[in-house]
Amino acid sequence: MKDFTLCIPTKIVFGKNKISEIGKYCAEYGNKALFVYGQGSIKSNGIYDIVVNSLKGKGIEFIEYPGVRPNPLVSHAKKGIEVARKEKVGFILAVGGGSVIDEAKAIAAGFFYEGDVWDFYKNTAKIKAALPLLTVLTLPATGSEMNGGTVLSDENTKKKFGFINKHLCPKVSILDPSVTLSIPLEYTAYSVVDACIHLLEGYFTHDDTWSPIQERYAEGLVRTIIECMAKIMENPKNYEARATFMWAATLAWNGIGSAGLGGISSPNHLFAHILGGHYDIAHGAALSIIVPGWMKYKYREKTHRFAMFAENVFGIKNGDENKKALAGIDAFEKWFIQIGSPVSFRDANLSIDELKLDELADDVLELADIWDIKEYTRESIIDILKLCL
Ligand code: NZQ
Ligand code: ZN
Repeated sequence: MKDFTLCIPTKIVFGKNKISEIGKYCAEYGNKALFVYGQGSIKSNGIYDIVVNSLKGKGIEFIEYPGVRPNPLVSHAKKGIEVARKEKVGFILAVGGGSVIDEAKAIAAGFFYEGDVWDFYKNTAKIKAALPLLTVLTLPATGSEMNGGTVLSDENTKKKFGFINKHLCPKVSILDPSVTLSIPLEYTAYSVVDACIHLLEGYFTHDDTWSPIQERYAEGLVRTIIECMAKIMENPKNYEARATFMWAATLAWNGIGSAGLGGISSPNHLFAHILGGHYDIAHGAALSIIVPGWMKYKYREKTHRFAMFAENVFGIKNGDENKKALAGIDAFEKWFIQIGSPVSFRDANLSIDELKLDELADDVLELADIWDIKEYTRESIIDILKLCL
């Protein structure tokens, strides 16, 4: 167990009909909000009206800033910063999935920063202050509702970069599972993949020899998520399964699971972000394309860990460690296919030629440098990408 400091300053309010309480929590942070949301789902499913009534009920003024798109753009965040400054808002309210919350974080930090907000993503500037952020989560997957992470894309350079900073943790996040009943099965599949990989990045990369708390935490939650998805596929309106997954996704990437682990990194996210910057592809789909290839490339370095994953998550008991590790990778890939998430560039209709592989490798190397991941070379990156074709 390595030393660690863990501080998660987000109040979680979880349950049916809790969204109507958002005005009460906002009132603790000011009387004028920038209300950030996406491309309209909150209007069609009624969440918008509940939020607006709750804000009005507490006399909170709000400036709407809609239009955040999936894989959110830094250009849109920059406009949001201008609006927030011009309107002199006191806090940000984000209502949506990870994309909306991530962009709201950029606005919250950019509000106080004179330079280009993209500097934070390139790691050439550090956040010193941010506006308070409150969220209503409508799509569980990323953990953004209870962490300091944010990921944005620059449409001009096709780069998609992300980072974590303590100033970006939301103050309050409301999680009402009933609003997730409407999420299409296709996107639910991407979301469960994302949450599982959040749990497994540290699991597969850490350099400790005995970490039972963190390993059982990850295995238990991955098994739970697999169970939830089976129930959701049977009945997309299963409240218990949706609620259980919602909390599991938050727990997957809020820092608890990796606390005390040494030498961890997020190589699958490294690759998936670069794919997300170059192609119009959901984050979870990018992950399920990368993960089987990355596992096949890497399992020999930590065969014992991959065999343990196979045994404790998929119940694979036969054979030596090598055989179990490979059977575990196969079972995980088959699960992605079963739930409808792509496992190759071909599955996702992405055209990749040699030139494109080179370009992707350049960007992976650049982000690896920003994230201080040293073990990948151009050759190994291209080899991994080729395993995903
Ligand atoms: O645009 P709106 O109207 O909000 O519609 C969204 C969007 O089209 C829709 N949606 C949201 N709630 C819904 C709903 N549809 C039906 N019913 C509901 N209740 O779903 C679509 C996808 O939403 P999005 O916010 O893009 O999805 P997600 O939460 O998966 O976020 C993905 C983004 O988060 C980043 C990803 O890279 C990606 O850019 N990540 C953020 C992380 C973090 N902050 O820690 C970590 C993750 O690894 C990830 O990288
Ligand atoms: Zn992710």
